[in-house]
Amino acid sequence: MSKSASDSVKVREYKLFINGEFTDAADGKTFESVDPGNKQVISSIAKAGPRDIDQAVAAAKAAFPGWARKAAAARAKALQKLAGLVLANNDTIAELESLDVGKPIRDSSKIDAVTAVDALEYFAGMATKVEGTIKPVPGPYYNLAVREPLGVIAGITPWNYPLLQAIWKIAPAVAAGNTVVIKPAEQACMSVLFLAELIQQAGFPPGVINIVPGFGEDAGDALVRNPDVAKVMFTGSTETGILIARNAADTLKTCALELGGKSAVIVYKDAPTDTAAKIAAMAIFSNQGQVCTAGSRLLLHESNHDEVLDKIIAIAKDVKLGYQMNEETTMGPLVNQEQMDRVEGYIESGKKDANLVYEHQRPNLDGFYVGPTIFDGVGNDMKIAREEIFGPVLSVITYAEEDEAIAIANNSEYGLAASIITRDVGRAMKTAQAMEAGNVWINTWGAVSSMAPYGGYKKSGYGREMGFSVMHELTQEKSIWINLR
Ligand code: NAI
Ligand code: MG
Repeated sequence: MSKSASDSVKVREYKLFINGEFTDAADGKTFESVDPGNKQVISSIAKAGPRDIDQAVAAAKAAFPGWARKAAAARAKALQKLAGLVLANNDTIAELESLDVGKPIRDSSKIDAVTAVDALEYFAGMATKVEGTIKPVPGPYYNLAVREPLGVIAGITPWNYPLLQAIWKIAPAVAAGNTVVIKPAEQACMSVLFLAELIQQAGFPPGVINIVPGFGEDAGDALVRNPDVAKVMFTGSTETGILIARNAADTLKTCALELGGKSAVIVYKDAPTDTAAKIAAMAIFSNQGQVCTAGSRLLLHESNHDEVLDKIIAIAKDVKLGYQMNEETTMGPLVNQEQMDRVEGYIESGKKDANLVYEHQRPNLDGFYVGPTIFDGVGNDMKIAREEIFGPVLSVITYAEEDEAIAIANNSEYGLAASIITRDVGRAMKTAQAMEAGNVWINTWGAVSSMAPYGGYKKSGYGREMGFSVMHELTQEKSIWINLR
């Protein structure tokens, strides 16, 4: 049970950010956020309902023509200013992120704001590079294919990288001249609402960026159905992604969907076992395994299976599972009770079907702690090999032939990512080509950049974030004909 607000040191209060101002919800409702590491109430957040969503969309719609016509360089400057503010507030952002979702502070202070700044700077540069083309059409004509923004973009984000997910949607959208309404995940609003303060300071015109915390089934749903929203940029579960695409269809808005995964890490027989173990461990233990590209299926060759597995177990033993705000902690709690129950359900299922070879000892703390858990002897048809667990739970599958490894990796309804570990470039490239996945890493895991397209195959979604790819998602082409006679 969560303790009452009065027990905690400091309960922060957050409001909705609509049309450049902080406001209460129309019906005055609020919800609480709990520190997953000790179950203390840490914030009270205004809870947007459908009326607030409509207001936010109306503000974004009103701001759109002015923002779209603004000089691209001016849009770039606002993004650059925001980048500077995010960087200057790295420590505050890290603290909020860790308190809210359980990320170890040592990671959040180096990863989240820093990566957000990179994206803000990259898309600031992109604002002035959205170019059209001239087509060699016949006759006395000239044809200009120009790229224009879409209008109001809805960004619906998950709780695993709250600030980054919001930035990945905001930065390219406003760079292209769109305006945005962000509905952060109800589990993780603090850093995003702090970002709203920075957005206000950066001098974006009112209504260009709106942030409306609330729940999926009412606020999220209202946003998806609003006829004035042009496109939904969504990251989250496949189940919710399908629902969103279906609801968006009524108003014919398009979606970009970054969904779940069950990504494979293939270790070939020639792989250096130390490197393989390090990559495999990073792939499943980073962010408590709450990563859409988590390498949750590890495919080990029968010849080096034992050696690699032993080394992963050694790494797992070294994990410092504990309160996320302690500097020495390398793995914090899961985000909430619901997620802990989910992950524990999968661990129970694994215990029935496969061989549990490692289960980390839990700290004696009142939080949602689940440590590194490793199952060997997993069959690719088992529940723990089919479904996204979203926790630090590794399923080890043994194979004998290269083609078999490729077939197992691809035998999943998901297609988000794959890692390949080998020193043999031919084998690496052959496998990379064969992977039914939107992201393939060779001799690494988890590399992302603002410059490189990011997205899924199959039930991991459609549409791409980052790079020029996302600028294409967030603009539409207009074909202008000029008769020269
Ligand atoms: P979710 O997909 O339900 O939530 C993601 C976002 O969608 C949140 O902002 C939520 O409020 C919103 N949402 C939910 N229902 C909606 C609706 N009907 N209309 C519009 N928006 C809606 O994910 P949830 O429930 O937080 O986590 C469940 C599982 O999903 C996790 O255990 C994990 O397996 C997976 N997941 C995957 C993520 C990824 O990055 N691929 C991120 C978060 C969750
Ligand atoms: Mg949900």
